[in-house]
Amino acid sequence: MPRQAYVNGRYLPHRDAAVHIEDRGYQFADGVYEVVPVFNGILVDEDLHLDRLDRSLRELRIVEPMSRPALKLVSRELMRRNGLTNGFVYMQITRGVAPRDHKFPKGAKPALVMTTRQVKPHSQQLLDEGLKVITVPDQRWDRCDIKSVSLLPNILGKQAAVEAGAYEAWQVDADGMVTEGTSTNAWIVTPDNRVVTRDATHSILNGITRITLLELIRKEGYELEERCFSVDEAKNAKEAFLTSSTSFVLPITQLDGKPIGNGHPGILTGKLRQHYMDYMQNLKKSA
Ligand code: PDD
Repeated sequence: MPRQAYVNGRYLPHRDAAVHIEDRGYQFADGVYEVVPVFNGILVDEDLHLDRLDRSLRELRIVEPMSRPALKLVSRELMRRNGLTNGFVYMQITRGVAPRDHKFPKGAKPALVMTTRQVKPHSQQLLDEGLKVITVPDQRWDRCDIKSVSLLPNILGKQAAVEAGAYEAWQVDADGMVTEGTSTNAWIVTPDNRVVTRDATHSILNGITRITLLELIRKEGYELEERCFSVDEAKNAKEAFLTSSTSFVLPITQLDGKPIGNGHPGILTGKLRQHYMDYMQNLKKSA
């Protein structure tokens, strides 16, 4: 069966799936999204992702297109149709279709699109070598906590990274402090083994991987600080890593061309990655 997508109430072949040209997501980026990881056939932290989706919708005053149980049902049906075992479910909700006009349309129904993607595990080489990251100015707005589909600065940052031979770009605020990656959260380990990540304000997306890893770090008793850190501090850190629903926990070994620590993936980073992989491995299927 060809891969399918869910579009406003219908399951369609992925290649034929389309939205209206006056969908406000298409014209204004007036919408939100979620990426829910799937590991061994299980949706990871599904309710935390759906809580964040609800919050993004509420903040932008977009109506929920369907109830949470219905969203869960559609995700599972799409996973089943596509035979998804490892990868992610992508869901996007926009304010709907209406003649182009900036103000909220009256009576427009929110539009919901869902797709899945199978993803290969990260290669051993990537895990052994670690990632290169560059820094770019953070050019985004003041509500980076909302998971909006408006991602131009993120796209430009990621492209700059790719063109520099790097995996990710860390965005840097006007005070020289790292906010986050273009699609990942940013972490360092200090020379005295404290794990540091920026506190979850409006300046970053509060990653679900970040939330779960923070919990694991507390449970395991590692030293933790949720605070801003500068590019300079990051360059002199003992270790660095990033987190996201598609990266899980990945080591960083170079920042702007400067080796981090001894230039090899950090020991604590490796432990944290293992804790996170064990956490996913032990998740039970829910209905
Ligand atoms: N990106 N910061 C930004 C700006 C992000 O876009 C993401 C996720 C994260 C990490 O959040 P989480 O742990 O919930 O995935 C942080 C997704 C994967 C994406 O846009 O594809």
